[in-house]
Amino acid sequence: DSFDLVIRNGTVVTASDTFVCDIGVIDGRIAALGEKLGAGREEIDATDRFVLPGGVDAHCHLDQPMGPGICMADDFESGTRSAACGGTTTVIPFAAQEKGSSLKAAVEDYHRRADGKACIDYAFHMIVSDASGDILQHELPQLIDAGYTSFKIYMTYDDLKLDDRQILETLTVARREGAMTMIHAENSDCIAWLTEALEAMNHTAPLYHAEARPSIVEREATHRAISLAELVDTPVLIVHVSGNEAIEQIRWAQGRGLRVYAETCPQYLFLTAEDLDKDGFEGAKCVCSPPPRDKANQEGVWNGLESGVFQVFSSDHAPFCYDDKEGKKAAGESASFQYIPNGIPGIETRLPLLYSEGVLRGRIDITRFVALTSTNPARIYGLYPRKGTIAIGSDADIVIWNPMAEWTVRNTGLHHDVDYTPYEGMVLHGRPQTTISRGKIVWDNGQFLGAAGRGMFLRCERPQPARPRGENRGF
Ligand code: URP
Ligand code: ZN
Ligand code: ZN
Ligand code: ZN
Repeated sequence: DSFDLVIRNGTVVTASDTFVCDIGVIDGRIAALGEKLGAGREEIDATDRFVLPGGVDAHCHLDQPMGPGICMADDFESGTRSAACGGTTTVIPFAAQEKGSSLKAAVEDYHRRADGKACIDYAFHMIVSDASGDILQHELPQLIDAGYTSFKIYMTYDDLKLDDRQILETLTVARREGAMTMIHAENSDCIAWLTEALEAMNHTAPLYHAEARPSIVEREATHRAISLAELVDTPVLIVHVSGNEAIEQIRWAQGRGLRVYAETCPQYLFLTAEDLDKDGFEGAKCVCSPPPRDKANQEGVWNGLESGVFQVFSSDHAPFCYDDKEGKKAAGESASFQYIPNGIPGIETRLPLLYSEGVLRGRIDITRFVALTSTNPARIYGLYPRKGTIAIGSDADIVIWNPMAEWTVRNTGLHHDVDYTPYEGMVLHGRPQTTISRGKIVWDNGQFLGAAGRGMFLRCERPQPARPRGENRGF
């Protein structure tokens, strides 16, 4: 046989093109694209199917250490299993630094959590929560050099947030070392002030989480993040953008020629603040930050995906069980909203939701779907072209997509270890039929066929999109 695997006659989609051809795989990599390729030891007929580069989920939280008594429901095994069943072949979760502790310790701890457990390939973003001198000047550059070329910083959450001066210092290192900075943009003091006022009125139910974090709080921080990045002259990516006010700031910055990238997530397309307003404690299931907004903001986010404001569509999978003393109910059902662990699950539903409601409803075309879910995140985080496209020499991370499948989202049919999905009951069209990770079939017709420990750690290159503007003047 000429190939280990041949995928025949599928409609291959990249971020720029759609064409029918065969794909030949040797040793886990794409070795040939062409018509009537020679025989494969294994063959897949992909007639009437889309053949996509495997999804790259560049924002998800797996087995991330939380405060005392709180525990994520997905570790690297269940999280990457669920990802694979949803058509994702690369994840980039977060190695979070604890204040007062080293960044290296966070990365080493996170490797121990992933080793022997991941079913698909993975890289790490770091979370920089302590920007003291030695960490910024020595540890961070060394880690960037070692393949951890992106990190997230927070403008909110007491145990993570940096002040403006610390953000400037951190961005300066990112600029010098060529790393990509992701920013969680919400104004911490505004949230604390609103939270106190709400609690004083006994407004503590889950729905008040959204009132404590209104759009203005996100808009202000987004503007400030952009200004700090402009001052330093380094690109930044604003994560989990929830709606129109933040989008306006980003569009303004992009219009000025600044390298400001943006990410949004399924919860801002499919949920609203009303989903937090349920009898009893149910609303906790949809508590995430920033919170889901309303229909007009959902439309704005769709428009941002269509018009190119957003480069990246990630899950922000943050898995906490609902009916669990270590999950959403960690502080009890009558505790204030501020003690509910933030985040919702969605690593497996990310691609099907965007395909069904985005591509099939004509809001985005299939090449943009691939760009948003795979190619752009691979580029922006230094994994391209190994990941994020179908090209000769790229890893054979491939999804055979059945555009006709009609199915209903049920948590019982998902493969994470969370006890709910916020999308329960939604009827979707299209889903991954087969997921291939470096040439190995890991999901096929409803069966998970992967194995813990097969996923490899990926060292990221310094991303091209992270280069400052100044460097390119005169080109
Ligand atoms: O609510 C969210 N999004 N939780 C996950 C952590 C984060 O800030 O992304
Ligand atoms: Zn536990
Ligand atoms: Zn965040
Ligand atoms: Zn997140």
